[in-house]
This record gives sequence, structure tokens and C-alpha cells, in this order.
Amino acid sequence: IKTIGVLTSGGDAPGMNAAIRAVVRRAVSLGLKVKGIRKGYNGLLNEEIIDMTARDVSDTISRGGTILYTARCAEFREEEGQRLGAEVCRKHGIDGMVVIGGDGSFAGAQKLAGLGINTIGVPGTIDLDIACTDYTIGFDTAVNTAMDAIDKVRDTASSHERCSIIEVMGRNAGYIALWCGIANGAEDVLLPENYDYDEQKLINNLINNRKRGKKHHIIINAEGIGHSVSMARRIEAATGVETRATILGHMQRGGSPTCRDRVYASIMGSYAVDLLAAGKTNRVVAYKGGKYTDFDIDEALAMQKHLDEYEYKVSKALSV
Ligand code: F6P
Repeated sequence: IKTIGVLTSGGDAPGMNAAIRAVVRRAVSLGLKVKGIRKGYNGLLNEEIIDMTARDVSDTISRGGTILYTARCAEFREEEGQRLGAEVCRKHGIDGMVVIGGDGSFAGAQKLAGLGINTIGVPGTIDLDIACTDYTIGFDTAVNTAMDAIDKVRDTASSHERCSIIEVMGRNAGYIALWCGIANGAEDVLLPENYDYDEQKLINNLINNRKRGKKHHIIINAEGIGHSVSMARRIEAATGVETRATILGHMQRGGSPTCRDRVYASIMGSYAVDLLAAGKTNRVVAYKGGKYTDFDIDEALAMQKHLDEYEYKVSKALSV
């Protein structure tokens, strides 16, 4: 391996810059060249490729977003796009590639690897929904941002003795919702993974909590369930308790990464370069069972992830 390409793809996540920085600096320390690819796979197809030195990543570790920009690329899901991508890599002398993103981005990485470009995935998504790893870059910052925002909504909900439904991100996964449910002491948490929720149960819970003297009632709703605004209208009509919906949205993806995100991103980015330097391809970097490791991308994409049932039970038990 002589030249490593690095790109970020899919939704941005805080800590992606720390991962890019680690890829660049680890590669430079091993005497390798680095090329940054802007705007994910789109930029690869359009040859938006820049040389990167150690100085190009100065002052980036504390910045949110991604300095390489990102995109979701429909063209790269097709065989023609993938072939073109591999050709562009060859044209620019890129013989190793680090793809920072989620499952969708890894599917692209798998194709590039199949076309002869040594490729390694680094898990970067706020959703924590990558099965092979217990940690994904961005989750820690996002969940802390959501927790702080929910604390604020809770202040006003208590003051007005209202019910608040707060919708958090996570696509089809409920990790952000469940963690906020525990961290914010929510009365109810609605998760896509156990979507057996019954609105009558929510209503009964709200009425019972009022009788027990609770001043606010926080319902955390995962975006995989959605419909927070109409839910709020129905709950207010059924209970007479003023109910508001707040959708936190993209604020959860921004901001300076936490220490945890910076450290894990730095180690995972370096680990990806070490895998390439050792001649490895078609691997995903992971943190599993308390240590850094890597998995075959095909295996990683076939794995299933489940919410921790005990965490869910605890969130219910502590909401009395
Ligand atoms: O995957 C990260 C994520 O923020 C999800 O939580 C959310 O469903 C999605 O991206 C939103 O995507 P977009 O930024 O394209 O609206």
C-alpha cells in the first residue's frame, strides 16, 4: 500500500473529523500518502479528490461535522457506479481506502473491496445501529446533546405541569431514545424495537402519574415510530393534560465531539490504517467486548443487533 484514500459517507457524526485526522496522521507516520475524497462516494465518482498532509487536519479534532463533507449516493448502489469508483481510485493511485460511515456506507466499501481496492470501514453514526460493534463514532456526543435538550424541555414541562413528547433520532434503532429514557428519567420510552405500544397504556400511565402527584410527564419517542405531533393531540384530547411535541432533529448531529468520541475515533481511524498497512481488506473496525477488533465486512453486514432488554426493564422500573 502506498496511497490511502479517506471519505465520510451517510449522515455526518461528531467525531468524524477526529477519525479523518487519525487516518491522515497514522498514514503519514507510516510513510504513506493520503488523499481525501470530498462528499462521500459522490465525490469519488466526480473525482473531488485532494492531497492531505498532517497539517491539513490541524485544529479539527474538536470540530463537529466532517471537513470532507458527506453525502448519500444512489449511483454507488449500482454496479456501474461501483466500477467507476474503483477505476477512479486506480487513476489517482489510491490502493487503500478508509470509509467512515454506517451500514449503507459499508455496503459500498464491500463492493470497492470486491473490485480490488483494499477497503476498511470505520463505524461513524449517531444511531449506534452497527451490529458488529458496541460503539459507533458520534453516538456519545449525540446522546449527550439530546439529554441536555430534554433536561431543558423538562424544566418548562414541569413549570406548566404539561406532558411533553420528545422525538429523538436513530432511524430504525432506539439506542438514543432508550439512553435518554434512562438518563432523563422519562416516564415512557417508545422504541421501534418493541413497537407494541398501546396509546391507551400511555394515557393510563399519564393519568395515574398525575394522581400520584407528578408534575411533568416526559415521553421519549424514537423517530422510527414518529407521529409525535398527532400523538400529542390525541393524548391531550384523552387526558385533558396539555401536551406538546418537540422534535429535536438535526441538532443531535452537530456540535463538538465528547472526549469519548474523540478518543474512540482516533483509535479506530489509526486501526483502519494499520489494517491496510498489514495488507488487509474488506474489514470493519469495531469495539467489541471491551477491546478494539475487526470483522469481515460480509459477516458484519449479516449480523443482527438487539437492544439490551435489561436496560429497557430498568428504564421502566425507574420511571415510577
Ligand atoms: O443516520 C443518522 C441519522 O441522523 C438518523 O438518525 C436519521 O434517521 C437520518 O440520519 C436523517 O437523515 P438526513 O440527515 O438525511 O435527513
